[in-house]
Amino acid sequence: MPSLKKTYPHYVANRPLTPNSDLEVFDKYTGKRATRVPLADAATVRKAIRAAFDAREAMAKFPPYARRMVLEHCVERFEKRREELAFALCIEAGKPIADARGEVSRLIDTFRIAAGEATRIDGEVLELEIGERTAGYRGMTRRVPVGVCSFITPFNFPLNLVAHKVAPAIAAGCPFVLKPATKTPVGALIIGEVLAETDLPKGAFSVIACTDEDAAPLVEDERIALLSFTGGPVGWKLKANAGRKKVVLELGGNAACIVDADPGRPLDFVVDRLVSGAYYQSGQSCISVQRIIVHRDRYDELRRRLRAATGKLKMGDPRDDEVFVGPMIDEASAQRVEDWIAAARKGGAKKLAGGPREGNMLPAWLLENVPRDSDLYRREVFGPVAFLEPFDGFDQALAMANDSDFGLQAGVFTASLDHAMRAWDRLEVGGVVVGDIPSFRVDNMPYGGVKGSGLGREGVRYAIADMTEPRLLVIRGG
Ligand code: SIN
Repeated sequence: MPSLKKTYPHYVANRPLTPNSDLEVFDKYTGKRATRVPLADAATVRKAIRAAFDAREAMAKFPPYARRMVLEHCVERFEKRREELAFALCIEAGKPIADARGEVSRLIDTFRIAAGEATRIDGEVLELEIGERTAGYRGMTRRVPVGVCSFITPFNFPLNLVAHKVAPAIAAGCPFVLKPATKTPVGALIIGEVLAETDLPKGAFSVIACTDEDAAPLVEDERIALLSFTGGPVGWKLKANAGRKKVVLELGGNAACIVDADPGRPLDFVVDRLVSGAYYQSGQSCISVQRIIVHRDRYDELRRRLRAATGKLKMGDPRDDEVFVGPMIDEASAQRVEDWIAAARKGGAKKLAGGPREGNMLPAWLLENVPRDSDLYRREVFGPVAFLEPFDGFDQALAMANDSDFGLQAGVFTASLDHAMRAWDRLEVGGVVVGDIPSFRVDNMPYGGVKGSGLGREGVRYAIADMTEPRLLVIRGG
């Protein structure tokens, strides 16, 4: 396996710099230091913002075909560096290597989609002659970049959730400053390294890890036109401090998956997908399966089969191809999840599978009878935990799925077209996945939520729409 370098520079106004190596990055499985990277100070954050602000015009003028070429260059380089990128994820995030390879493929997809979109940012022709007063007027719009964007990304997808901000910004012609998660900065810094090989205008991008305190200008500075944040409920506080800028928030969820009665329909695929959706990368995904809502007629069978499948998952070193459950990001997170499980069990929840935590290693847990008012039920677990609940009628299942402060994606296994359409009509979420789990995502889909799950949509074309605005041209005569 390739190894991490001893240090990685950060990127300020496109340039690699190593002013210090103050941020230690740990191997999440061994707990040993894996590498060191710079920790930017407040002055560097301000410098990056100033450079991006000064680069606005150059980025706006940087032609769409040149933006596409930058993105295509990234695709080519990521293809060449696949194993190195996957290994970096495996080490810095503790992501099982199979999932890490999958994320690298998605990183490439996201940049490839953005390359295609870069030359498809169209406007429209407007009919303005709506009465005598406006006879002889014509109108048209084109989309122009909003200006500087600031991006704050989480630890759970250190490459692809960075890609979902960076690639559309390049396609749209927006300079940006990116703050990756301090626990997993390496993926973003490698993306920075690849971007530094391109001829993006000076100042167009900075990639800097820093403390939340020093990152405050990324939220508050009025020169920034758009803030895109992926993380937890703290996003709402950021929005409150963001002034006039546009804000895009992806804040997670406690995703539900409904399994309908579908008499006689085999459950093999359903079991496979539920186990995968609940426990991949230890449940540290905003759309991991948390609540499994099952028709009473299939409850016993599904419980038995899920229990058996969950018990078979291999836990351990994420470098091992066979391992499905690796470490959580840190011990405090694993401890929190364990505490929530214990509190739910005190309230009557019953364990179907699971076991004790060792450090940041928590096995896959499956429960039932989880109290509706427990943290485990109501909040985003972000750990390897799922639980079952029975329903009797499909409308009841929809109401149970909607009984949440969140609304990101929901899954529905049903053979009934009527139920599928009813789910699409009534589920209060950003996306309904019929025939699969809520964790399904393709990188050109609109992705984002309602209620506590956030604001706006990612998925390259949708992010580009946010990062541009229509500019109208009116012409009289001709
Ligand atoms: C997330 O955790 O929000 C990202 C999920 C994904 O991209 O699959």
